[in-house]
Amino acid sequence: MSQDLHGRPHSGFGFGAGAGGGTFAGRVGVEIVGSGSYLPQRVLTNQDLEKVMDTSDEWIVQRTGIRERHICDAANGEATKRMGAHALRRALSDAKIGPDDLDLMICATMTGEMNCPATANLIGHEVGVKRAGSFDLNAACSGFVYAVNLAHDLIRGGAYRTVAVMGVDCLSTLMDYSTAGRGTAIIFGDAAGCAIFRATPDTRKGILAQAMHADGEGWKEIFVPRTMHDFPAGQACDPSKLGKVQMNGAAVFKFAVSTFSNLIEETLEKGNVKPEEVDMFICHQSNMRILKSARERFGLSEDKLYINIDRVGNTVGASVPLCLDELRKAGKVREGQKVMFLAFGGGLTWASSLWQL
Ligand code: COA
Repeated sequence: MSQDLHGRPHSGFGFGAGAGGGTFAGRVGVEIVGSGSYLPQRVLTNQDLEKVMDTSDEWIVQRTGIRERHICDAANGEATKRMGAHALRRALSDAKIGPDDLDLMICATMTGEMNCPATANLIGHEVGVKRAGSFDLNAACSGFVYAVNLAHDLIRGGAYRTVAVMGVDCLSTLMDYSTAGRGTAIIFGDAAGCAIFRATPDTRKGILAQAMHADGEGWKEIFVPRTMHDFPAGQACDPSKLGKVQMNGAAVFKFAVSTFSNLIEETLEKGNVKPEEVDMFICHQSNMRILKSARERFGLSEDKLYINIDRVGNTVGASVPLCLDELRKAGKVREGQKVMFLAFGGGLTWASSLWQL
C-alpha cells in the first residue's frame, strides 16, 4: 500500500493526494460512515414560555406540534462552537476515525460565533483537527442539505476522500422571549448534528438526485436585521428588533407547504424513483402541520417520514442531521436503503438530496 502526501497509507482503489485537492483516479461512490448530534441540557417547555409571554401550551401544540425545545446555556458561553464540537466528536467516534482522517469540514450555520474566523475552524480546533480544509456555509434551514450535496460532489469528483458536514444553530440568541416575539420564539431550538461522508469503491452508493434552489425576493420573510438599514421598504425600522429573527409566519408556512411537495416531486422525477421506493424521508422539522401535509400528499406511512419536532422544535441547520443521527442510532436508516433529505427556509432556500446508502 502506498502513502499519501501526509505519510498516511491509502487504500488501493485509486485515492491520490488526500486533503487539499489531489485527484483520485476512476469513479468512486460516497457513503455515510458516521453521525453524531448534540442537544443542550437546558429544556425550554411550552409551560416555561407561558411564564414569560402571552401564549399557551395548547396554542403552540395545535399550531406547531412543538412541546419543548433545548436551548444553550448562553451565560456560560455555550453556543454554536461548543455544540458543533460535541456533534463532530460523536460522529468521528461513530465512524471510528480521528480528526487527522478528515480532508474537509463544512459547517452549515446561520449563527456563526464570529464574522471571522469561520465557526468550522473553531469547531475543528476544539476537536483537534489540524490539516483539513474548513469553511462555513449559510443557507439557513437548508444549509445542511446544501452542504451534503457539495460534499458528495467533491468526493465523487475525486478531490477529497473524507468530509465532515455539520449543521449547527443556536437560534435562542436571536429570539425575543416576550409577547412581542411570541410568533417566532416558540418555534426555534438549539442543536448540532454531523455526518461523515467517505469515498467508497462501491459506485452504487451516493446521490441519485439532488436539488438546490433559492428565491432572494423572499428574503424579507425571515431575516435578522443588523442595522436600521436592513428593514424592507414599508416595514417600520424598530431598534428593539435588531439582532432578532423577524419572520412572517403565515408567508413562510404557505411557501413551505407548496415547496415541500414540489421538491419531493422534482427529486423523485430526477432520480426516476417512485415515492414507495424511498425508505425514509428525512425532513427539516419546521412545523408538524407542514410535515403531516407532506405525508398525506404522498400517502406516506408514519414510519417513512420521521418527526421529532415535538421534542426539539425547529433547530434550523441542525434539524436534518439530528434526525439522521437519531434514525441511524435507532437502526431505522441503514446501508442498502434509499433516503431523501429535504429542507427549506430563510433566503428563501430549499434543497434535497436523494441517496442510495
Ligand atoms: N401564542 C398565542 N398566540 C399567538 C402566538 C403565540 N405564540 N403567536 C402568534 N399568536 C397570535 C397572533 O398574534 C395572531 O393574533 P391576532 O389574530 O389577534 O392578530 C394569531 O395568533 C394568529 O397569528 P398568525 O401568525 O397568523 O398564526 P399562524 O396560525 O400563522 O401560526 C406560526 C404562526 C408561526 C406557528 C405559523 O405561521 C408557522 O408555523 N409558520 C411557519 C414558520 C416556519 O416554519 N418557520 C421556519 C421556516 S424554516
